[in-house]
Amino acid sequence: MRHTGMKSYEQMTDTFSRCPENIVLIGFMGSGKSTVGRILAKKSGRFFLDADVLIESQQGRAVSEIFTENGEAFFRRLERESAEWMASCVRGTVISTGGGMPLVTERLGDIGRVVYLKLPFEKILERISPRERSRRPLFADPQKARKLYLQREGIYESKAEAIVDAAAPAEEVADAILRSLAETV
Ligand code: S3P
Repeated sequence: MRHTGMKSYEQMTDTFSRCPENIVLIGFMGSGKSTVGRILAKKSGRFFLDADVLIESQQGRAVSEIFTENGEAFFRRLERESAEWMASCVRGTVISTGGGMPLVTERLGDIGRVVYLKLPFEKILERISPRERSRRPLFADPQKARKLYLQREGIYESKAEAIVDAAAPAEEVADAILRSLAETV
């Protein structure tokens, strides 16, 4: 069967034969880390990994279930362990992290080049639909989420090698990341 839109064998082999440094996307919930990450992976010949999905696959349950059944501290421990694992075992990949990852590990820089997707809280509110809010335990109450955003802004900035305006369309954000890391688009 023919699959349209798939990469040619040569293009795929090229991805498998390269092993560039990881790119680690950080930022608040709803800043577009996963959407931009997928596009960036394609553009830069890397694989894509969503750190929340990594934890979900190891646990066999959703992040929201982990929060409900075991609490936030347990989730943070898993997050820290996943950061250790990524620093040791993952290469050639764009990684989108959960919004709290920069607070639980000192090893972001050992995982790869860290980029902060910066977006004002008002824009984040516009972007996150009620359905998406329900998947994010820490977004259930927007006022609490705003406080969290204010507490974290400076931390994201201090941990990033590059800061990119995440308000533009995802494709443009991906190009801006490559430019700011001085990789060719
Ligand atoms: C969290 C963000 C979520 C997820 C968890 C906690 C946070 O990921 O890891 O609900 O503390 O900001 P996203 O940033 O992908 O929504």
